[in-house]
Amino acid sequence: MLLPKTICLLSTLVTFSFASPNCKLSPADSAWPSTNEWAALNRSIDGVLVKTAPIASSCYPGNPFNSPENCTSVQDKWYYAAHHAVWPESVDYPIYSNNSCVPKGVTGYAEGKGCNIGGLPQYIVNATTIEHVSKAMSWASKRNIRIVVKGTGHDLNGRSTGAFALSIWTHNFKHIERRCGWKLPGQNKTEDVVVCGSGNNWGSVYTAVHHMGRAVVGGEDATVGLGGLIQNGGHGYLSSHHGLASDQVYQVTVVTTDGRQLIANSVENKDLFWAVRGGGGGQYGVVTEFILKTYPVPANVVMGGFSFHAADSSNTSETASWNALSEVVSSIPDLMDSGLNGNVTAYTKAMTTALGLKEAPPGVAAVVGFVGFNMTTDHMDHIVDKLSAQVVTSTGNGNYLNISRQQTSSQSYWSFVKPEPLSSSSAGAASLMTSRLMGRRELSDIAPNKLTDYLQQSLVSENPETGTMLLFGLQGGRGPAKVPASMRGSVLPAWRTAYAHVMTLGATINATIDASESLSNAADWYETFKEPVWRNWAPNTGAYMNEGNPFSSTWKNDFYGENYEKLLAAKLKFDPSESLFVWSGVGSDLWNYDLSSGLLCRVES
Ligand SMILES: Cc1cc2nc3c(=O)[nH]c(=O)nc-3n(C[C@H](O)[C@H](O)[C@H](O)COP(=O)(O)OP(=O)(O)OC[C@H]3O[C@@H](n4cnc5c(N)ncnc54)[C@H](O)[C@@H]3O)c2cc1C
Ligand SMILES: *[C@@H]1O[C@H](CO)[C@@H](O)[C@H](O)[C@H]1NC(C)=O
Ligand SMILES: *[C@@H]1O[C@H](CO)[C@@H](O)[C@H](O)[C@H]1NC(C)=O
Ligand SMILES: *[C@@H]1O[C@H](CO)[C@@H](O)[C@H](O)[C@H]1NC(C)=O
Ligand SMILES: *[C@@H]1O[C@H](CO)[C@@H](O)[C@H](O)[C@H]1NC(C)=O
Ligand SMILES: *[C@@H]1O[C@H](CO)[C@@H](O)[C@H](O)[C@H]1NC(C)=O
Ligand SMILES: *[C@@H]1O[C@H](CO)[C@@H](O)[C@H](O)[C@H]1NC(C)=O
Ligand SMILES: *[C@@H]1O[C@H](CO)[C@@H](O)[C@H](O)[C@H]1NC(C)=O
Ligand SMILES: *[C@@H]1O[C@H](CO)[C@@H](O)[C@H](O)[C@H]1NC(C)=O
Ligand SMILES: *[C@@H]1O[C@H](CO)[C@@H](O)[C@H](O)[C@H]1NC(C)=O
Ligand SMILES: *[C@@H]1O[C@H](CO)[C@@H](O)[C@H](O)[C@H]1NC(C)=O
Repeated sequence: MLLPKTICLLSTLVTFSFASPNCKLSPADSAWPSTNEWAALNRSIDGVLVKTAPIASSCYPGNPFNSPENCTSVQDKWYYAAHHAVWPESVDYPIYSNNSCVPKGVTGYAEGKGCNIGGLPQYIVNATTIEHVSKAMSWASKRNIRIVVKGTGHDLNGRSTGAFALSIWTHNFKHIERRCGWKLPGQNKTEDVVVCGSGNNWGSVYTAVHHMGRAVVGGEDATVGLGGLIQNGGHGYLSSHHGLASDQVYQVTVVTTDGRQLIANSVENKDLFWAVRGGGGGQYGVVTEFILKTYPVPANVVMGGFSFHAADSSNTSETASWNALSEVVSSIPDLMDSGLNGNVTAYTKAMTTALGLKEAPPGVAAVVGFVGFNMTTDHMDHIVDKLSAQVVTSTGNGNYLNISRQQTSSQSYWSFVKPEPLSSSSAGAASLMTSRLMGRRELSDIAPNKLTDYLQQSLVSENPETGTMLLFGLQGGRGPAKVPASMRGSVLPAWRTAYAHVMTLGATINATIDASESLSNAADWYETFKEPVWRNWAPNTGAYMNEGNPFSSTWKNDFYGENYEKLLAAKLKFDPSESLFVWSGVGSDLWNYDLSSGLLCRVES
């Protein structure tokens, strides 16, 4: 017994001692540039280099990094995405920066951990010109320094931050300009387009195109930025009509890590153009500008729907609630084909407080919220009446289910998309979700009892008392399906047959413990309890990369599908130094990013 064990141990040791890890530099390396060298870089880029000074430093004794903002103010602002967007180093979900300097009392704060640069980038380029980006990236990539790209910092998977990195902050690429009669590359046609700096968020673009009397396909949340949303696919209110955000791009300006400044469109740098339209942000280069297609403004926006839950604690009512959800879900494809979008959100246990109930009903509770463009309220009422009648029938009679109708309303498109200040208050939390794209096969062409089983399985929660949520975003359908081949980039092909983008949570994340350990625990829980459900229910689809689980063992297939190898070739061509790394990015399996040590090292094969 003893002998084989010893041999095993020895061979492990031998492997380790021969491995010469090829890592991106850290400040502990002798090759790390001196302060003078950083100063020289700074001079070469008009003094826009910023040494990272965590904003929450003022919450720690002596304000070690000289934060200009007092602690109370930082604490008050911490949950708002709009503030993280203007703090150069900050991201919305600080667990991915190893909770390196968070204010006292917020998620991720741990007594005694202190305030460090830690998992945050070391320096930030507050770029305002393409030259700033180009010079800084070629300087860093030549020196084997990791590069990260931050637009707003909204990323749910921490892909805009990284330890020991130089961060390219695109926040100040803010121009928005309508160009009338712009010649489409490679065609004898002109079109009115909108030219947008990549540092804009959707709120600014919606406002600008409103003044132009046009609409664009963007995200639902006004504080989300163009950079990450477009490059990873991007869905929103108009996507079910006009396709994904990545389907709307005519041209991009990209700076590569070796400093090239490239125009990419359907004629020039076609492979890069294809890659940045859906193949992932922060991976191929820095996009400084997007030229986007615009659309007529919808005449109006009609909203309607209903919510339901079990009428009492009987088993019949519990069963009725599941059957009702199953009935609604199976109707999604037909409803979307008739022009609806919106969402259906199911909740269990404590999460049912979302419906304003005092006590959690058994089974499942759901809110069905439809959005229709160019529609009368009568038409919406008719659709909602018909669906709620179907739901009642599916549960036998109405006695076991409480249904509340939402008042149908109509408003202008502008009042619907108009950005509200500080609307997005979900920042500062610890995030890890998992999702799946679902088509007609998964939603409608499935036996009702099978569908109910999958719904129940996808609503399991690590802590049974807290329950969880399952959100069906009605953002696919005819829009993505009808996009002409010439406008399709590398976004996961499953989007073309998907109707709903289905998201769930469920893992308990204890953000007080070590960030790396807490993420790894949550990832293990999803891998055991949720990913297998998706793989059984929807084996051939995949997931929306921006709102997915980057630690899924099948991430290559989930996020990139058949495009993976071609995207990898583009990645290695345009970022030959592999300076850009993001979790579940193409080629990310060639590297190991250890959030605890902060080191990003090549995996020895
Ligand atoms: C509250 C909330 C609501 C959301 N709503 C929607 C929604 O309605 N629809 C939807 O599709 N998604 C939505 N998302 C997901 C969102 O699209 C992603 O979080 C996306 O990554 C945000 O992009 P960003 O540029 O704002 O964020 P960042 O964190 O700045 O960047 C995200 C990723 O893109 C890269 N990146 C950013 N800019 C550039 C650039 N110019 N060049 C190269 N790489 C770049 C970054 O390196 C990073 O990898 C939502 C997220 C949240 C938190
Ligand atoms: C870069 O130069 C500017 C202008 O001189 C200065 O304000 C800034 O602090 C410098 N940045 C670094 C990292 O030294
Ligand atoms: C902290 O900053 C806020 C916002 O700038 C200000 O209103 C407040 O008075 C400051 N508080 C203290 C104690 O300085
Ligand atoms: C991350 O945090 C842990 C403590 O949770 C700490 O031990 C580690 O040094 C930190 N790493 C970095 C790179 O900040
Ligand atoms: C970044 O640059 C903008 C535009 O020049 C400037 O207004 C802002 O103060 C800078 N921010 C930081 C943190 O240097
Ligand atoms: C564009 O127009 C020119 C001149 O009219 C013609 O020669 C060319 O073939 C056209 N190109 C395309 C792509 O239609
Ligand atoms: C709404 O109708 C207008 C014409 O009034 C049309 O141009 C527009 O494309 C329609 N929008 C949608 C989303 O159907
Ligand atoms: C359902 O509705 C009935 C009748 O209005 C009401 O008595 C009951 O309390 C409701 N059940 C729940 C769980 O809210
Ligand atoms: C109650 O209903 C659920 C499903 O709705 C079922 O799985 C369970 O077996 C039922 N329990 C009893 C005691 O009948
Ligand atoms: C769901 O739809 C409603 C409108 O019906 C909207 O207000 C809400 O933001 C949507 N939620 C999500 C998470 O998409
Ligand atoms: C999170 O972990 C800390 C440290 O181990 C522990 O004290 C705390 O009780 C945990 N919180 C929860 C909600 O499990």
